[in-house]
Amino acid sequence: MGDVRWVLAVDHGTSTTTGAVADVDPDDGWTRVSTVSVDGATELPSVVLSRTDGAVLAGRPALEAAHAEPQAAVLRARDYLGAATGGRDDALLATWPRPTTAVNVATALVARVLQAEAGRRGSAPTVLALVHPPSWTDPTTGRAALTAAGRSALRAVEGAGDTEVALVPAPVAAAVRLGGSGPVVVVDLGGGGTEIAVVDRSEGAHGTTAARLRPGTRTVEVGAESLDDALTQMVLDRARPALADRIRFSADPEAHRAWFWLRRGVHDAKARLGTDGFVDIAVPVLPPENPGPGTVRITHADLGPLFAPALEQVGAATVDLLDASGGERPPLLVRGGIAALPGVRDWLAARTGCGLAGVEDPGAGSSTGLVCGAAAWAADRASLGR
Ligand SMILES: Nc1ncnc2c1ncn2[C@@H]1O[C@H](COP(=O)(O)OP(=O)(O)OP(=O)(O)O)[C@@H](O)[C@H]1O
Ligand SMILES: [Mg+2]
Repeated sequence: MGDVRWVLAVDHGTSTTTGAVADVDPDDGWTRVSTVSVDGATELPSVVLSRTDGAVLAGRPALEAAHAEPQAAVLRARDYLGAATGGRDDALLATWPRPTTAVNVATALVARVLQAEAGRRGSAPTVLALVHPPSWTDPTTGRAALTAAGRSALRAVEGAGDTEVALVPAPVAAAVRLGGSGPVVVVDLGGGGTEIAVVDRSEGAHGTTAARLRPGTRTVEVGAESLDDALTQMVLDRARPALADRIRFSADPEAHRAWFWLRRGVHDAKARLGTDGFVDIAVPVLPPENPGPGTVRITHADLGPLFAPALEQVGAATVDLLDASGGERPPLLVRGGIAALPGVRDWLAARTGCGLAGVEDPGAGSSTGLVCGAAAWAADRASLGR
């Protein structure tokens, strides 16, 4: 134990954080990549919660504790990391029970993934690769903050003094996972927003794919979290007016808890809208406005008017980017949480005139495909197995 070199990649996203590891199979010398499980799952909710006893929870336990204490939880912090520097002037996202910046949140989530894997292996990784959105082009904000978070997280494990923190743009990681050569356009419909970028792939050493991000990317404010907000408002519109008013306008802790619980219900139900066509969302019991349990139905047809204009913005931005970079129509890799909604990939392919990439390899566009690509990228960087 402890003498085998390995690398770790972490994708700290707005909604979810994922990790993947790469090492060398001693039997055949090939690099192998696998996902990291934390709390029995490969996806951690990007939630951090500080308890009054000093404990800092990250991931699933933080989300569970947040149902009782939503005011102590920090969610969607990745949005703020892009503007942070990792210095003393970074904005506080929470002040109670302890001051918390976006770097603190990223540190806690990266550290959870790191500790889980380092604990299993009894050693520290050679490289810690952290994924960032392609729009983070300024090295002094966003990228600096993420690097600072990576370094702090490494302090949580023994023997990580020599570990290199390396940053990889998300579309590069996605392209490495996809493999092949030539250009690919990556559309990442994430929790916080949509990022569109063209990546040039070439054959790297030892049969791996090398990928280079073309300058000039596009960002569109279309993401799963704002879709959750809109759907939650739709449920409140259909609930008892007195209940909706209390949840929307009252500052009391019960109303805040009810809002948190309702919004989580919408978040978890959203995937079933695509598969079942409708979902019945449980409305919180909140006396006196809502004394007993009840549900509100939302259907796939409700999603159309909310989501169609958003998807059109993504399609138009992709066409705009491709026209600006020479008018070619490379293969299109559509990934990110909302890419799983039925019809999204085909619609974008038709709108842009691009063929879909990764059709025979659904893993390339899956929720952990990107972070697996980042781990393969880091293995190449560390010359694992050579
Ligand atoms: N099958 C599905 N249908 C609809 N939405 C889904 C589905 N699966 C996941 N999502 C949503 O996708 C979101 C997570 O997407 P993703 O993991 O791409 O975001 P992220 O990487 O955390 O965010 P970002 O990259 O913007 O920082 C969640 O809000 C989740 O509700
Ligand atoms: Mg993401």
